[in-house]
Amino acid sequence: MTKTIFVTRQIPEVGISILRNKGYIVDVREKTSIPSQKEIMKALKKKPYDAVISLLTDKIDVAIFDAAPTVKIYSNYASGFDNIDTAEAEKRGVIITNAPAVSTSEAVAEHTFALMLSLAARIVEADEFVRRGKYDGWDPMNFIGTDILGKTLGLIGAGRIGGQVAHYAKAFGLKIIYSDVKRNEMIENESGATYFSTPEEVLKQADIVSLHVPLMDSTKHLINAERLAMMKKTAFLINTSRGPIVDECALVEALKNKIIAGAGLDVFEYEPKLSKGLVKLDNVILTPHIASASDTARNEMATLVAQNIVDFFEGKVPANKVN
Ligand code: GLV
Repeated sequence: MTKTIFVTRQIPEVGISILRNKGYIVDVREKTSIPSQKEIMKALKKKPYDAVISLLTDKIDVAIFDAAPTVKIYSNYASGFDNIDTAEAEKRGVIITNAPAVSTSEAVAEHTFALMLSLAARIVEADEFVRRGKYDGWDPMNFIGTDILGKTLGLIGAGRIGGQVAHYAKAFGLKIIYSDVKRNEMIENESGATYFSTPEEVLKQADIVSLHVPLMDSTKHLINAERLAMMKKTAFLINTSRGPIVDECALVEALKNKIIAGAGLDVFEYEPKLSKGLVKLDNVILTPHIASASDTARNEMATLVAQNIVDFFEGKVPANKVN
């Protein structure tokens, strides 16, 4: 029987072509808005779909599994898979895969540096100043920022993405310290990174703290008021992982009261909503969850999500099976 696949929103064509070239029927939801759970359920009830390509904005849980009993695999177009109830999927024998593309780690690490350098060199504030017609000539005291050479970068989480950030950090002359549930000897050997078993020491010593942990019960609000208070007053916090890892309300207070110097955020606790007061702060840079949005990364992710489905239908264990 021909396999049918539902895709909750448009992804790069390369992935869809892989599936169609295999003779599968692929239905891509046409609307570009984020579908509600009800909308996904309604769509899945239209046909006995065999597979779904889901996005990180789709909540895939018991309600979806109940609505679509024929779906055997959810191929998530994201590195993270905190949007899926993997334990419930496992109970039902439903396969979950993710898309940890190599180029995604590179793109996210580059975006981390973009935020870091923009904060240090005050790029966003300066851009706005010029656009507003305020630039009336060179001024030795204008927009004095800070340099990152020789500063200490603290990584909280040193997996694929944290490791890539460490790789770039070495070239920028940063000293690297990190904490994670397990040591990453590769970054210690390659970048001379120093390991701490808990985040506290990293938070105390780092000039720039960058978060690279997955969202789990144990990492929700890992950065809270108490931990923000441990950071240096001159420190920057960068978050390109998942919003709820930071207590955003506590962060707004810390930025307002200059407990830390600045933050670069690509993800938000209640995204797409922003916590009260966040946009009013001039010591924060905000981007709309685009860290992995390089052309190379997005095409590689589309290829991976399609290949995971093909492998599954061809009787192989998909390379990115997570449950
Ligand atoms: C993006 O946030 C991803 O998980 O790929």
